[in-house]
Amino acid sequence: MASPHMSAVQYGGTHPYNPPDWAKDLKLVPKNYVKLSMSPTPIHKWSPPGVPDGFEVGIKREDLSGCTLSGNKVRKLEFLFADALEQGCDMVITFGGFDSNHARATAMAAREVGLEPYVFILDFDNSVREPKDVSCQGNALLMRLVGTHFIVYPLRDDMSFDDQIDEIHGQMEKFAKKKRSEGHKVYTIPKGGSNTLGAWAWMDVFSEMMGQGLHDNFDDIFVAGGSVGTACGLAIANYLTGSKLKIHCVSLYWTDPAGLYAHLKECLRDMGLTGRVRPEELVNPVMDYIGLGLSQSTDAELDAIVEVMSSTGIVMDPMFTVKSYLGMVGEMSKNPSVFKGRRVLYIHTGGVYILFGRMDTIVQRRPECNRMTLSSDLCP
Ligand SMILES: Cc1ncc(COP(=O)(O)O)c(C=O)c1O
Repeated sequence: MASPHMSAVQYGGTHPYNPPDWAKDLKLVPKNYVKLSMSPTPIHKWSPPGVPDGFEVGIKREDLSGCTLSGNKVRKLEFLFADALEQGCDMVITFGGFDSNHARATAMAAREVGLEPYVFILDFDNSVREPKDVSCQGNALLMRLVGTHFIVYPLRDDMSFDDQIDEIHGQMEKFAKKKRSEGHKVYTIPKGGSNTLGAWAWMDVFSEMMGQGLHDNFDDIFVAGGSVGTACGLAIANYLTGSKLKIHCVSLYWTDPAGLYAHLKECLRDMGLTGRVRPEELVNPVMDYIGLGLSQSTDAELDAIVEVMSSTGIVMDPMFTVKSYLGMVGEMSKNPSVFKGRRVLYIHTGGVYILFGRMDTIVQRRPECNRMTLSSDLCP
């Protein structure tokens, strides 16, 4: 099969990759992929609360890209793990928090393809000193159950978040070097799986969506942006196919779009597109919806999760998708002029496991989450 989105076969070694015509002359075309996702994922209409009259919303269900591998990260791993396997690696090292969807998907997929998973963790709560302190909920539980090796760093208050992430990436490289000197073949994956190969994966999803009527049915795409590989892949694919849509990237924690543009620039360079287009022309950064940051939620965000779920049955998570959803409906109400048209595609990037362990207080106080009658109270 030519492309991950054309095959129903799950992992069974690497398969040769045929890029779409509009991408085949780029530099750094992936040679192979491994099939990990349940794809193509569907696109359907969606009517969440808060969409003003005149707008229509569709939803791309990347939350259905798998069960344990659910979300946007599995697409990146299809190319990254193919690269690791081609290089004969036996070990994969990446970075995340205990809540990280990327770290969880990497660890689970590593076991599927036969690699030993190591995750460098930034402990946002500064609460882990020994293995028993690690949560038994959500993504952390799944990582523990597949036997992930954690290397834990407490969050420091004497350096910025970005600097600490850079420092940990440096430590990852040192650790990889040590393991190599012991005879291991090590593959390192940066935060969020966001390098040029990761962006390629999302160009491939763009191609999948073209086959699902993307250009006929939509004018704008809204997607969450953390390490921004997902948004960069979509933005470059949109450019290469004639810029028919406008790509909006809702920040999950960054307050300056410089990092988004820098990552786009790097991907464009690696693909041989330097000088053809300015990164600023490819994507609209949306930065007013970060709330209290990645690891904390506002009451409005937690309420929105219940409102969307109880009215549409689509799962929202507190760290990622609820922010991108609020960004989309917020801009529709406050800044309708930033949209190219009125037909908007929301990319649901997954994140379901983060719900488990975070929602107790909100669930206790929302009436729709407390609908119960004891059988003894029913009228005879
Ligand atoms: C559920 C979810 N949505 C969106 C994102 C952001 O994707 P990216 O890091 O490619 O910007 C992440 C990243 O961790 C995620 O886990």
